[in-house]
Amino acid sequence: MSTIINNIEIIKTKSSKINEVDFDDLKFGSVFSDHMLVCDYKDGKWQEPKITPYQPITLDPAAKIFHYGQSVFEGMKAYKDENDSVWLFRPLDNFKRLNISSKRLAIPELPEAYFMEGLKALLELDKDWIPKNEGSSLYIRPFVFASGNGFHASPADEYKFIICTAPSGSYFSGDVKVLIEEKYSRSANGGVGFAKAGGNYAGQFYPTQLAKEKGYHQVIWTDDNTHEYIEEAGAMNIFVRINDTLITAPTSDRILDGITRKSIIELAKAEGINVEVRKLSVSEVIEATKNGTLKEMFGAGTAAVVSPIAAFGYKDVDYNLPKLDESYADFFKKQITDIQTNKSEDPFGWRFKVD
Ligand code: PLP
Ligand code: COI
Repeated sequence: MSTIINNIEIIKTKSSKINEVDFDDLKFGSVFSDHMLVCDYKDGKWQEPKITPYQPITLDPAAKIFHYGQSVFEGMKAYKDENDSVWLFRPLDNFKRLNISSKRLAIPELPEAYFMEGLKALLELDKDWIPKNEGSSLYIRPFVFASGNGFHASPADEYKFIICTAPSGSYFSGDVKVLIEEKYSRSANGGVGFAKAGGNYAGQFYPTQLAKEKGYHQVIWTDDNTHEYIEEAGAMNIFVRINDTLITAPTSDRILDGITRKSIIELAKAEGINVEVRKLSVSEVIEATKNGTLKEMFGAGTAAVVSPIAAFGYKDVDYNLPKLDESYADFFKKQITDIQTNKSEDPFGWRFKVD
């Protein structure tokens, strides 16, 4: 039996798993809500999306995703306020970025209504899965991949767009220690670094594993040409505070145009904090550490929110950052999460009500 919400056909699960989940002890992205949205691209167009119970999908072994990695994704979160209203943060920006990524990977772009109406219907249906505990939210993973088959190294003729959701706690537990990369690169000019392509993450796993063996949590990528300039981390953009100036690298072919990053830049400007979007060399950061002007470093992203960096390693030397009582990281984290969870005014119009 199916029903229709927002013009979307819904097949509900017969047995909800919600009672099996401990909402007081949520990891990041490891339990999944009852339903998912699925939309197929075939015969030259996106077909009507539908919602089904969360379930495995069957793919041909020759599906091009397996061989040529044609896949892109997004990361978003849904929040519940104290009146149980459901909110998203700048969702149209995620939709637009998904299509920017798709275009670069020769994947057909999605119609806005399928993404937005599909997401709203899914969240209405799985509303009870949105955690209310501070620091928790419903992580949303929209993704598109090549389901069409063939060993010819060319774009597939069929794709799937799926949205799954996962009630989640924080991405990092505890202090974040990063390694500034000197050898490997995440991306290059003319490449796919600006896209949220699955392969960008696969390519980071090995260097990140090496960094983890040395006790670091993430790699901070540097430019592929000289390895002298700080770009971004594995799953977040990077901000550095020298004296009271906030510095972050400009976006480029090589860097993901993070929604949290651009929100922090706008919040900082509104607060009268001096922000510089410019190239930032590793030597400038080390010099600032040595002369005491480096106040803080933090990562920013949907999953990571605002994550202070406690220490960084470079050329076999570890540099510890000071612990501040009043950090920019804490300030922006509170400003952003208060807007996201409807606890404060939203002067920029970033909040989006779902129901
Ligand atoms: N950079 C990378 C490589 C990421 O994976 C992410 C996460 O989405 C970000 C930056 C932050 O982007 P956003 O703030 O849009 O989540
Ligand atoms: C996000 O922040 O949503 C991301 O996509 C990062 C991810 C790799 C966990």
